[in-house]
Order: sequence, then C-alpha cells, then structure tokens
Amino acid sequence: MSEPLVLGIESSCDETGVGIVRGHELLANEVASSVDLHARFGGVVPEVASRAHLSALIPTLRRAAETAGVALDDVDGIAVTAGPGLMGALVVGVAAAKALASYLDKPLYGVNHLVGHVAVDLLDHGPLPTPALALLVSGGHTSLLHVEDIATTITELGSTIDDAAGEAYDKVARLLGLAYPGGPVIDRAAADGDPSAIAFPRGLTARHDLVKHRFGFSFSGLKTSVARWVEQRRVAGEEIPVADVAASFQEAVADVLTAKTIDAAEHLGVETILLGGGVAANSRLRALLEERATSAGFSVRRPRPALCTDNGAMIAAVGAEVMRAGLPPSALEFSADPGLPVSTVLV
Ligand code: KG4
Ligand code: ZN
Repeated sequence: MSEPLVLGIESSCDETGVGIVRGHELLANEVASSVDLHARFGGVVPEVASRAHLSALIPTLRRAAETAGVALDDVDGIAVTAGPGLMGALVVGVAAAKALASYLDKPLYGVNHLVGHVAVDLLDHGPLPTPALALLVSGGHTSLLHVEDIATTITELGSTIDDAAGEAYDKVARLLGLAYPGGPVIDRAAADGDPSAIAFPRGLTARHDLVKHRFGFSFSGLKTSVARWVEQRRVAGEEIPVADVAASFQEAVADVLTAKTIDAAEHLGVETILLGGGVAANSRLRALLEERATSAGFSVRRPRPALCTDNGAMIAAVGAEVMRAGLPPSALEFSADPGLPVSTVLV
C-alpha cells in the first residue's frame, strides 16, 4: 500500500478530536474541547465530558473531512482511542468509530491513547529512529518508555507512583487560585517569576530512593510542599508571590523529569529522546530537555505544542503506523479499556 489515508477519533477525556493523516502527513486536526464546562469544578467531570463528546463528534468529523478535502469513503482505515481514559468518554468515540467503519466497510483499529502522544511527533518530524526513549507526560500519566517499534513494541521503564505531572500542575494551579487546566496558566505565570526563589523538593531523587525508583516519579510530595509553603504565607497574612511559586514549582518538575530521562536514555543506550503528552507543551520542560539532552549527546524530538495536548491526529498517526506494519484490524466487538497498558498499541 502507498501511504495509508487514516481517520483518527479521540474521546478519552475532555477533547473530542478528529484527525486525518496520510502516512506522516497531517491533513486535518479538528478539536472540540469541553474544558470550559469543567473549569468551575477544577477538573474533568466524566458525565459532562461524555455528553459533550456525543454532541461534538459528528460536527468535528464533518469539519475534519472538509479541511482535509477528503470524502470519508476514501479513507483506508479508521483508528479510535480504545484506552486508557474515562470509560463513558471512550465509549462515545468507540461506538461512533464502529458505526462508521461498518457503514463504510473500512478496517477499524482500536489504539492506545498514550502511544498517540508519542506517534504524533512523526507528523512533525517523520519516521522515528528506533530504539528511542520517550518521556510521556500527560494529565493522567508520567512514564519513561522504551520504544523499539512504535507499532508493536513499547515497554515501560518506569512511571509515577502517585500523581502525574499534569495532575500536579492542575492541583498547584488550583491552590494558587489559578484557572483549570493549570499547566498553561502556570507556564505563563512562571515567565515572570524566579525559578530559584523557592527550593521545592525533587521527588525520588535521593540516593536511597534511586535504588528502587531510579526511573520512577513522584509529584505528590512536591504538591504538598507547595501547599504548605503557600498556606504558611496566607496564615501570616503575607501576599503570595504567585509568579515565583509557579516558576519554582515548574523548575522542580522540569528538573526531575529531564534528569531521569537522560539517565534512562544513557541506561538504554538509545540515541533519540522523544517528548510527548500535554505537559510536553510546557516551555521550560521543552527548553531544559533540549539543553540537557543535547549536551549529553542525544537528539531530541518534540511535537509542536499544539499537537501535544489531546487530539485526533495523534490517533490517526498510530493508525497509520499499525497499517503500515500490516497488523490486522481490531475485531469489531472490542471494548474500550480505561486501564489499557501502554504496551498494548493495538487492541
Ligand atoms: O495529554 P493531555 O492533553 O491529556 C491527558 O491525556 O491527560 O494532558 C493534559 C495535561 C493537563 O494536566 C494540563 O494542565 C497539562 O497537560 N498541560 C500543561 C501545559 N499544557 C497542558 N502542563 C504544563 N505546561 C503546559 N504548557
Ligand atoms: Zn492525553
């Protein structure tokens, strides 16, 4: 087959995404977000997200086909997020994809959302030299992945033992009285702050922690430390230097993530490091990884920030990889799996 034309549908959390790719070429990436509906709750409300997917999916699909200038009947395959994510949200995308695939008589691929965060970079930078190390940082996951073959062989080297990096951003934003989602807001606030103003802890970097958790992460202690620091100032009636807190917190996160990533890349002996997931949009993480990885002799790949957060193109990108690898489509009766492990690229 020449480069496969693939439609990708994403509905695992609060973004309804439909993307269309031809091999590594991005043709359309339409996203409808329900984030505004969740903002006042300070986090995603699953029931609200599911309903929003239901109303956004068909219009988003139409827009994507229009933008790409393709008729749905022309696609070679349909890929949909099978997991991980919120069950009620996943089910909307999976049901829509199954209906579309059976109506159009196209092969359907239920694929892994987390692999999508890695594969989306191929749309920006072409084929991934493997083996590679991927640092996956999203709202629900923080993992170091050994990518031997993006369509078939991905193993997790380590992950967070408590909060995900994005979750820490969201929680710290909340305690600073900033809007949800917290990542982009803290990123902006930090631009005016001093990253060395407050020495926040770097989780699981002490010598005794490294024995058991060399490639593991922990962000809940950092979040608690920020909360305590802020609370003490509040009780004393002092003003909170939001920009300094944001910058110091962000520095602690980026420091740990990049230090462990370089260590893992050296351990595996790979040449390429790839960054993926919503937190990969973070300006400090992008800069510090580039700086440390380059000086350690690795090449770094980071998708453009707009492709880091959830979207349908990343799912289409995985679809294109599994089709190119000649893998069989998913059985039409497959279920969404909220806990799908990252090693399962295709269900
Ligand atoms: O990958 P994603 O879109 O959704 C999940 O699969 O979870 O990631 C969302 C997370 C949120 O926690 C959000 O605060 C964070 O990514 N995020 C950021 C930035 N943009 C989004 N975190 C730090 N800096 C950013 N610029
Ligand atoms: Zn995601």
